[in-house]
Formats: sequence, structure tokens, C-alpha cells
Amino acid sequence: MEDRKEQIIILDLGSQYTQIIAREILRAGVKSKILKTNEIEKYLEEDKPKGIILSGGASSVYDGDAPFVSENIFSIGIPVLGICFGMQYLAYRENKNLVTGVNKSQKEYGPIEIEIMGGKLMHGLDKKLKVWASHGDIVNNIPDGFVITAKSQNVIEAMENEKGKLYAVQFHPEVIETEDDNTILRNFVFNICNCVKDWEAKNTIEEIRKEVLEKTKGEMVAIGVSGGVDSTTLAGVLAPVLKEKLFSFFIDTGAMRMNEVEEVKEMCQKSGINLYIVDAHKEFLDNLKNETDAEEKRALFKETYQSIYKKIIENNNIKYILQGTLATDLIESGHKGNAQKIKSHHNVGLDFEIKEISPFAHLFKHEVREIARSIGLEKEISERKPFPGPGLYVRVVGMPVTEENIEKIRIADDIVNKILKKEDFYGEISQIVVAILGIKTVGVQGDSRSYNHPIVVRCVSTTDFMTVKGFEIPSEVKKKIISEITRHGFNRVFFDETPKPPATTELE
Ligand code: XMP
Repeated sequence: MEDRKEQIIILDLGSQYTQIIAREILRAGVKSKILKTNEIEKYLEEDKPKGIILSGGASSVYDGDAPFVSENIFSIGIPVLGICFGMQYLAYRENKNLVTGVNKSQKEYGPIEIEIMGGKLMHGLDKKLKVWASHGDIVNNIPDGFVITAKSQNVIEAMENEKGKLYAVQFHPEVIETEDDNTILRNFVFNICNCVKDWEAKNTIEEIRKEVLEKTKGEMVAIGVSGGVDSTTLAGVLAPVLKEKLFSFFIDTGAMRMNEVEEVKEMCQKSGINLYIVDAHKEFLDNLKNETDAEEKRALFKETYQSIYKKIIENNNIKYILQGTLATDLIESGHKGNAQKIKSHHNVGLDFEIKEISPFAHLFKHEVREIARSIGLEKEISERKPFPGPGLYVRVVGMPVTEENIEKIRIADDIVNKILKKEDFYGEISQIVVAILGIKTVGVQGDSRSYNHPIVVRCVSTTDFMTVKGFEIPSEVKKKIISEITRHGFNRVFFDETPKPPATTELE
């Protein structure tokens, strides 16, 4: 498939909504790419987008470690839109005194009403608009050359400098709670940056179907479906065209979460994917039994996975394998780009001795999710949080893998997920990691001493898992988790909010 050229760059300044900006622009039909601040200079040497968006972020411009944006982006004559922290940054770089820091300013969080005063970015909007605000710092006065284009009772909500091609909003136009029907982002990409529509899920789906049909020429094709968004979406895209030539299977590794096998089967059935369950839990458990070392576990898992996969290939006369791998997966596993190998992902670098096709290798996660939505896959799939292939085997940390330990962590994982799923912020968490540790901690339960393995709960938010932020679970929800987990025989729960780097998402 043809290589992509994105028209908009989104500079990720640490917002939980960065992926949502990309998703909303994609819905308008325009490809974008999310970059980190240290990647933009190199990108600009090779390519020039039609516009740049500075995302929001958790920092205050006054923080010592606040993101710093290369001045080069302002000198190449393309429009820049600053959102939330991005707006504060635009004001701060002109004059530090124009931003009031979080301690002194009027914090806004949640829905607010703003008054629209004009401007290119606000074109087509009514005078009053309900928007979503989430910020501490505010811009107290606009820089030279700017005009105010929206305000709320106390805060400058938007400003622009048409000549300088700088646009900014204090609130979040990308989220659904901002009731502009995507007008602001559309104004930016089409009216200000002059982007043309270059992406439609429908076209990408058709291209993928055509490519795979041509390559596989009526032979049997297999796809290992994990229930995650990538492999399931790929199976969903191809099931209607490959029909009986597609063998979709799910390997039960014995390290799945509570009721996961049944849930995935049902989800797939509803989405038109006829999933064959390969029950290999005994084989995996026998091979990984009593192993403690993380990379050793991954190697054994990979070996077992490969051998089972090979049997499936032989038994079903498979000639091609489909992989839902994205470019970012390859980078993390050290198979693409300059990144050092951090972990050996089980599904990268396997050798099945038959041809592999990876139709998603050029796509980003938000594009795959959009494809999932557009082919009508269950929301459970399109919005599903990732789970590592080796599953609960890498959630038993510093202690031997046994059926009993796996069952313990399965119970704790289920408790945490059930509690978090009910919370409003669930969608802001990119992944939930629950692990059991090899050490033992002392507790007092029912007047007697307990001496048990503790549980670690780790929620992260991220755009691509190359870096992650620890997600802070509100204290009342933490209390619920502690209370429920300790009712199940554990005497301690640790919460891990360490970012990546220096940590990784998983504990091992
Ligand atoms: P880390 O821990 O490397 O995780 O920051 C990044 C993402 O990858 C998942 N992960 C794995 N996925 N096989 C997989 O298929 C693996 O061995 C593996 N290790 C980590 C992790 O859950 C997160 O989503």
C-alpha cells in the first residue's frame, strides 16, 4: 500500500486528549500524525505539514519540566493552533507576564459557557457555546497582534493572530462535551490550513480488502485474534470478503482474564467473525510453570505460541498469515527504527515459514479504531484497552508461574476492572495493569496475622505506549479498590503511578 503523507501534525504536550484530537480530525477526513516535541525538528527537515496543533497538557508553563516547543515551527509560515496548554504556551513565548500561573488563577474544570466574538477559527458558531474546560493556568492578556475571539465570565477563551497564523483556544474543542459539532477543528484544518480530504475509512477498508484478496489468490488465510482492537478489526475487515478462506482463531493461553475467552467469542460473533477457540492452556502452563524471569517467560511463551500456531497452519492447510501489527509495535520490539529492544513481544519476529501480510503496518491506532467503528464492530472492540499477549503470565511478578498464582491475579484484575469501568474517567485510562508481587507482606485480618502476596494496581494514560503517564486514580476510588481486594484474601494494595520512562507500562 502507498506510504502516507499526513497534512496535520499534532504535537503531544502531554494531554490525555491527544488521540481524540487525531480522531476528530480523521473524522473530518484528514490524516494527522502525533509527534513528541523532540521529533518535530527532524520531521520538518523532511516534510512540511499544512498545519500544526499544540495539544493541551498537564503542565503549567511555569513548571521547570514543562514541554518546550521548537521555535522552528513558528518560522515556516504554517498555521499553528494551540489548545489549552498550547494556548498558554503561545502567550508565554511572546511574553511571560501574559500567563497567570495555576496557583493564582481561576481554575476551570468541566462544562462552561463561552461567548463567541468572531475570528476565523470560530466561524459559523452561534454567539453562545457550551465547551469543556480543564485548566489551571490562564492567559490574562493577549499578546501583540492577537484579538480575543471568545471569552467566558472570567477567562479569555480564544484568541487569534491571523497575520501570524496563530490560533488558540483555552478549552478543548476535540471532546464531545464541546458542543460545536467539530466546527472549530474543521475550520482550522479546512479554512485555515487549506487541507483536502484525504482519508475515508471506507477507502482504506476497500484498499486492504483488495490487497489481501490479490495477494492470497483464493488460498487459506489464518489470523490469530486476541480480542484486542488491531487483530479483531483486521478479522472484521476481511471476514466478509475472504469468507470460508479465512480461519480466525483465538488461542486460550491459560493466562486470559476472567471470562475473557467467552467474551471475545461472543463479541466476534456479533461482529461477523466466526472465531475458533484453540484451547492450549495446558500446554502453555506446562511450559511456563515455575518460571520467574520475565524475558525467559516471554521466550517460552513465544516458543509455545509459535508451535501451536504451526500446528494450526498444518492442520488447516494455511498458506498466508494475517497480522494486525501497527508501525508502533514494530518500533517497540526493536524491529523498525532506531529504538533499542526493550521487550520481546511474542508476535513480532515469529517465523511461521509461510508468507505474512500486515495490512495495518502503515496505520495509527486512532485510524484502526475508526475503521472498527465504520465496519460496525462492537464498541467493546473499538474502544478496548490493550492487554499483552503473554497475559497474566507477566502479571505474576517475582514469583513462579503456577495455576494458583494466575488464578489469584485473575481475581484481583477482575475486581479492579469492574470498579474502574463504572467510573467517568474510565475512557481516559489507556491501560490497566494489575499484578501480584513475589514478596510477602504482613497484615492483620480477623485478629490474626496474615502473610500474603500484595497486589499492584497501575493505570496509565498514553497516546502510543512509547511513553506513558501514571494515571492518578481519585482517592475515593482507590479506597473502593483496596476494600474489595482485601476482602479477597490479600492484605495490601500498592498503587504505581511511575511514568514511562523510567518505568515501562508492564511491571516486567
Ligand atoms: P511496555 O511495558 O513495554 O508495554 O511499556 C507497552 C505495551 O505493550 C504491551 N506489552 C506486550 N504486548 N507482548 C505483547 O503482545 C508482550 O510481551 C508485551 N509486553 C508488553 C503492554 O501491555 C503495553 O500495552
